[in-house]
Parts: sequence; structure tokens; C-alpha cells
Amino acid sequence: MNVIDWVKSMVTSERWKHIESVRKMAVSLASKWDVDQKQADLAGLIHDVARDFSNDDLLKMANEFDIVIDEFSRQSPILLHGPVGAILAQKKFSLTRDVFNSVYYHTTGWKNMSFLEKIVYIADKIEDNRTFPGVEVLREEAFLDLDRALILVLENSLRYQLSKHAPIHPLTIEAWNSVVTHMQ
Ligand SMILES: [Fe+2]
Ligand SMILES: [Fe+2]
Repeated sequence: MNVIDWVKSMVTSERWKHIESVRKMAVSLASKWDVDQKQADLAGLIHDVARDFSNDDLLKMANEFDIVIDEFSRQSPILLHGPVGAILAQKKFSLTRDVFNSVYYHTTGWKNMSFLEKIVYIADKIEDNRTFPGVEVLREEAFLDLDRALILVLENSLRYQLSKHAPIHPLTIEAWNSVVTHMQ
């Protein structure tokens, strides 16, 4: 089975729409920022392959794959869809380290993200179906200054978590500190 059919068989049709849109945005950003477009397309395609798994399945597979299940993932197993998807895809297809990491870390971010990792992280939030207030500004910024766009996208998600008094994953804080420190 090829990667496209495999991903399609694992997700809902709504999710597939989102995935196609992330692929498109990731390829546009890759072309703008001189990143391999095939790798961006592949990472966009795979990123949410495990997104429609149940919490129980995510926890079970994370265990099987020896993924460290921290207290945050224990509370919100959906956080595991990046790591689980990356490892599942790696077992079936051979991925570059960069594509693997882009999928693995697309839910939390992490420090010192590569161009591809930033592109996938950002494309996921600004693809054409996203309609939250301010998304147009983020879309413009992503083609002007990738690091600034990453800061804005992270800021957005941090603000949202804070407004709900929800916990912030330590990797997201790492991502934030890493990108704002490099910008100074
Ligand atoms: Fe995701
Ligand atoms: Fe996504």
C-alpha cells in the first residue's frame, strides 16, 4: 500500500480534508523557504495519521513503541498522536530523520526546530480551512518571516491554553524559549 492510501485508510474524511490542506500549505511554504517540497508534502501527509485513534489505542501503542508517557500525555492522550503516527509510519515506510521529527513534534513543538519542522508545525495551524480570528495575519507572516510566524503561532496556542487554565506541555515551553531566544 502506498503512503497516501495508507493514511486515507486511517483517518476520517474530515481529517483527510485537513491533511490535504496541510500538504498544500507545507509545499507552498517549502517552496518559499527553499526546503525539499517532497519532504514537506510527505510530512504534511503523515502528520495526523494517528489523530483519529482512540485514547486507549494511543496509550496502548505508545506503550508498545516505548514512547515515554509523561503526566501531560497521560491526562490528554491525544498529545501522543504525533509520536505514535511518526513511529507507525517509520515502521512501514522509510522516513528521513527530518520528516520523522516533523511528525513526532507537530503537536508540541520542541527546541531548535528545523525548517521542515517549523513548516509542518505552522502549516497545521494556518492551512486554508482554519478560520480562527487573526489567521490571515499568520498566513501572511509565514511567507515573510518563518521564525516570526512560529512565535505568533506558538503565542496563539499558549494564550489559548492559558485562557483555559490548562497545563502547558514542557516541550512547547522549550519551543517558545528556543525561538524567542534565537530571535533576539
Ligand atoms: Fe495533529
Ligand atoms: Fe493536523
